[in-house]
Amino acid sequence: MDHFQYKNGEMYAEAVPIREIAAAVGTPFYCYSTATLEHHYRVFADAVGGLDATVCFAVKANSNIAVIATLARLGAGADVVSSGEMKRALVAGVPASKIVFSGVGKTSGEMAAALKAGVLHINVESLPELETLSGVAASLNIEANVAIRVNPDVDALTHEKIATGKSENKFGVDWADVPATYARAAQLPNVHATGVAVHIGSQILDLEPFRKAYGRVAGLVGALRAQGHIIGHLDLGGGLGIPYGDEHPPTPEAYGAMVQSVVGDLGCQVYFEPGRLISGNAGILVTRVIRVKQGVSRSFVIVDAAMNDLIRPTLYDAYHAIEPVTEAPADGEQPVVEVVGPICETGDTFGAPRALPVTAPEDLLVVRSAGAYGAVMASTYNTRPLVPEVLVNAEAFSVVRDRVTVDDMLAREQLPDWLSNGDRLRRKAGS
Ligand code: LLP
Repeated sequence: MDHFQYKNGEMYAEAVPIREIAAAVGTPFYCYSTATLEHHYRVFADAVGGLDATVCFAVKANSNIAVIATLARLGAGADVVSSGEMKRALVAGVPASKIVFSGVGKTSGEMAAALKAGVLHINVESLPELETLSGVAASLNIEANVAIRVNPDVDALTHEKIATGKSENKFGVDWADVPATYARAAQLPNVHATGVAVHIGSQILDLEPFRKAYGRVAGLVGALRAQGHIIGHLDLGGGLGIPYGDEHPPTPEAYGAMVQSVVGDLGCQVYFEPGRLISGNAGILVTRVIRVKQGVSRSFVIVDAAMNDLIRPTLYDAYHAIEPVTEAPADGEQPVVEVVGPICETGDTFGAPRALPVTAPEDLLVVRSAGAYGAVMASTYNTRPLVPEVLVNAEAFSVVRDRVTVDDMLAREQLPDWLSNGDRLRRKAGS
């Protein structure tokens, strides 16, 4: 479900014509829908509402502060993996008491920042990390609330680059080492390991891997309690998939019912970290056709967005639906074309050849399902500045991140003395 739909032959974001936003901000740009974000958050929160649950939006999926603030107003917490993300969540109004700090490579500086901010809990992924955290917490005289992220060795049946719960992945404490890790935590000063965390991957389209992993966690909680550990909370991660095309992911309701049946009796507070499910279909990338080039075997629709703006098709062979902003006639011609960006790599494509209504230069196209892992994964390759992000709310829209300019980028670079010949001064003087 989303609020990017045709009305009278034109695509709208909620009540705003996409064409109007394009005229105001130029292309390419990301566009997010408040109503869609809110809907997805509410559906998920309701689906797990039978538990003592907190939904912590995985900020890595979309870290624009306006997006985070939209969700924070509904009561969402945040799952963050860097002090940068933590700052965003705090600036956006998420109370520290609803922030979970995850990540396999937290630095001591990040641990200190998280502890000083007073985050809810820190997910620890190894014994050395636990030892370091204890040291940092002791030096600050702060008690750290900790969940140990365990690796349940479960295949999430998703793309190999986004599977995280197999024993060969870098994430979490190996299953066999889990009891010793809690035992060590119990000896260390300033850490309270009262939680168990697990996250097995992303874009998961089947409930079974979740059921397996959560079942293992439930068994573990019993074993840890039998050993005298006080376990009061679970962090069950994110990962529930969304439809990009014709996928049929489990519904949040089915997921919630499964979680209830597997861990509902443990008497734990339960945290969830969904990212894609909430923001994925709440965002689109709007791009303009530069020209159409006839190749030997197909024609290329060359657009002004590229792999630097949305890397998912290039990196994961991910499918994103592409639609024209002006609705094509139902019986119109649909030539098979490849939509590509201007970057000097063959991988700079928005998908394998596919049928698309006839397009001409200046036409606007929409790349759907780009609200998660879109803008956040953008780069400036080929000196292509980061594109703006726009948030729509009913009939209003607002630029929530400005377009970066090439001058902004160059202002952060300088020649060393031995190359400068006064160049920097000239540039500063605007010449
Ligand atoms: N929690 C943890 C510890 C995670 O590592 C992740 C995602 C999430 C929560 C959120 O997962 P979600 O609900 O969004 O599936 N860039 C890739 C996805 C990488 C996901 C990494 N971890 C993509 O574009 O498909």
